[in-house]
Amino acid sequence: MVKIADIELPDFPLLLAPMEDVSDPPFRALCKENGADVVYTEFISSEGLIRDAAKSTMKLDIYEKERPVGIQIFGANLDSMLEATEIVEKSNPDIIDINFGCPVKKVVSKGAGAGILKDICLMEKLTGEIVKRTKLPVTVKTRLGWDHDSIKIVEVAERLQDVGIKAISIHGRTRAQMYKGHADWKPIAAVKNNPRMHIPVFGNGDVNTPEKAMEMRDSYGLDGAMIGRACIGYPWFFNEVKHFFETGEHLPGPTIEERVEVARRHLEMSIAWKGEKLGVFETRRHYTNYFKGIRDFKPYRMKMVTSDHSVDVFAAFDEVLEKFAGYEFV
Ligand SMILES: Cc1cc2nc3c(=O)[nH]c(=O)nc-3n(C[C@H](O)[C@H](O)[C@H](O)COP(=O)(O)O)c2cc1C
Repeated sequence: MVKIADIELPDFPLLLAPMEDVSDPPFRALCKENGADVVYTEFISSEGLIRDAAKSTMKLDIYEKERPVGIQIFGANLDSMLEATEIVEKSNPDIIDINFGCPVKKVVSKGAGAGILKDICLMEKLTGEIVKRTKLPVTVKTRLGWDHDSIKIVEVAERLQDVGIKAISIHGRTRAQMYKGHADWKPIAAVKNNPRMHIPVFGNGDVNTPEKAMEMRDSYGLDGAMIGRACIGYPWFFNEVKHFFETGEHLPGPTIEERVEVARRHLEMSIAWKGEKLGVFETRRHYTNYFKGIRDFKPYRMKMVTSDHSVDVFAAFDEVLEKFAGYEFV
C-alpha cells in the first residue's frame, strides 16, 4: 500500500496530472470513475487567489465524488503563497500540491513553476513554510532540473522531504526540454533509490500505454504513475492500466456507445459547472481523443468543435450514434 500522509492508496496508484483547462471537476470526476486513485486540479495562481480573481477561485471547486483530490498552487512570493494556502485550505481538499514544474515563460520569468529550480534554497523555504501553515498534506510536482547541466533532483527531493512534504511527483524532463524529447525516468529512479527517501515518489512523463506504466513500476521501481496527456479525451486509460496489471491483457477499448455516453456526460457536467458558453468551449479539446480512430469522422468532429451551442453538439452525438452504431475499432 502507498500512503500520502494518512491517505491510503492501492499499490502503484495512478494519479491524474494537473493540466490547465483540462483537469477541471467534470473531467476529474470522469477519471476517478474510470480508475484514477488521486486527482489534481490544474495549477492555480496564488496571486490570483489572494486578489480573489473569479477565474482562480472557481478553480477551487471540488466534487465529493472525486476525492482524494489535490489542489495545485503556484507562485514565487512567500506571503502570497501562504495566504493562498489558507484560502485553498478552506475549500477542504485532501492535499495541497505546489507546482515547481511549469515551464511556461510567463510563469518562470516570475520565478514561479520551474523557475524556482534555479533557486533551490527558496524552493525549500517556500515549501517548508507552506507545510507549517497548513494541516493538510503537502505534495510537490517538479521537473528533473532547470537544464541538463543542473539536474539535482536527488538532493532537491531529499531537502523537500526534510521540510515535510508527503509525496513528490517528478516529470522526467528539464525545464529546458519543455515537452521535447523523451521523459527520462532514470533520475526519478535515483530519487526513489536514495535510502533516505521514505515518501512516495511518483513518476510522470510519457506514460501512454499500460506497458509503459508497468515499466515504470517494474523496471524503475517507482511508487505510482502520474498520467497527463494519455487521458485527455480518454479517461478509460486508468482502468486499462489496472486491468493490464491484473491480467497481463489489454482491456478492449470503449465502444462507440460508451464514448458517446461519456462525451455527453462530460459536456453536461461542464455546462452545469461553468455555464453553457465555457462548458461548450472547454470540452472541445477532448473530442479528438474521444472519437479517435473512426474512419470518415471529420464532419462530425468539426461540428462538435465549431458549434457554439450545446444543443448542436448533442445533436452531433446523436448523429454519431446513428451512423457508427456497432463500429469496430481496430
Ligand atoms: C494541456 C496541459 C496542461 C498542463 N497544465 C499543468 C498544470 O497546470 N500544472 C502542472 O503541474 N503541470 C501541467 N502540465 C504538465 C502535466 O501535468 C504533465 O507533467 C506533462 O503533461 C507530462 O506528463 P504526460 O506525458 O503524462 O502528459 C500540463 C500539461 C498539459 C499537456
